[in-house]
Amino acid sequence: MPAPPIDARSLTARTVSVTPCGDDGFVLRIRPDVGQAPLRAARFFMLRREDRLSPAIPRPFSIYRQVGEDLEFLIKNMGTGTAALSQCTPGTRLRLIGPLGNGWPALDGEGAPWVMLAGGIGSAPFFMGIEQALAGMDGRKPVQRESITYLYGAARRGLLYDIEAFRRLGVRVEACTDDGSAGFKGNVLQLLEDLWKRGEVPRQVRLLACGPERMLEAVENLARARNLQCWLSLETLMGCGVGICNGCPVPTVESGPMGAWPNAKCCVEGPVFSVDDVTLAGAH
Ligand SMILES: Cc1cc2nc3c(=O)[nH]c(=O)nc-3n(C[C@H](O)[C@H](O)[C@H](O)COP(=O)(O)OP(=O)(O)OC[C@H]3O[C@@H](n4cnc5c(N)ncnc54)[C@H](O)[C@@H]3O)c2cc1C
Ligand code: FES
Repeated sequence: MPAPPIDARSLTARTVSVTPCGDDGFVLRIRPDVGQAPLRAARFFMLRREDRLSPAIPRPFSIYRQVGEDLEFLIKNMGTGTAALSQCTPGTRLRLIGPLGNGWPALDGEGAPWVMLAGGIGSAPFFMGIEQALAGMDGRKPVQRESITYLYGAARRGLLYDIEAFRRLGVRVEACTDDGSAGFKGNVLQLLEDLWKRGEVPRQVRLLACGPERMLEAVENLARARNLQCWLSLETLMGCGVGICNGCPVPTVESGPMGAWPNAKCCVEGPVFSVDDVTLAGAH
């Protein structure tokens, strides 16, 4: 039975800083009371304040950056839990459960180039993903800078969180917005189609995506139609984060490796899944 990772713990931390980011987001920097080993990108923590201002159920957030002893989370204000975190001040005590989840697959420099598709706050797991791909993951050949294209889409300019930090990583970064206020006017898939048409990105690529569910459905459909390898990092609603509550089901591909049961648990079997394993698009 899928179980939480063996390095997951319940631990406390103190807030180091809260820095506004974009129109409605912030970077929460915390220092756990117990040091963390280097963490794989796209793993996550369940997070809440220790006081009564947070809802009782902690909320899941991807690790944005690991800086020395500190962890950073890039968070969009959505409701009660994120509002409580946004109001932390230096010293506010936090409760974490983690690190949880599997993280991105080994991003290696052996095969087709990587195209990373991020929508809105779905950019969070990509920062360390790019850093780790460039450094080499799991002893694999590092990915060359020119073999990573990062396509970042949002409704408008102010929701392209911290995009300059991504540009400083030295890979190709292209932005798009629904209203045309920054970069290409359209969504990330239209942008990719445009880059394909102009011959600026090879047709055979490997895809990684994180963003709103509708976007991920479209990415899944594209990957299937073009027979591209593709992994999705899902932001399913979660209750426990450790496989107990059944609150995070993801429909599996019936004929796929996980198909014997109709759902996988996002928290302990994901949040990153290959489109060979799960189907968002087929779920409706
Ligand atoms: C593995 C994982 C990693 C995540 N990483 C990040 C991250 O790095 N940064 C970040 O900002 N968020 C991330 N999320 C999403 C984050 O957990 C939710 O936005 C958060 O739980 C909202 O809590 P809240 O109490 O503020 O909102 P609530 O008060 O619980 O909800 C407010 C509104 O937002 C909607 N909502 C809540 N969660 C989601 C969601 N996941 N998708 C769509 N609508 C939702 C609710 O239905 C409701 O309408 C991640 C989720 C998962 C599962
Ligand atoms: S969130 Fe409880 S089982 Fe996944």
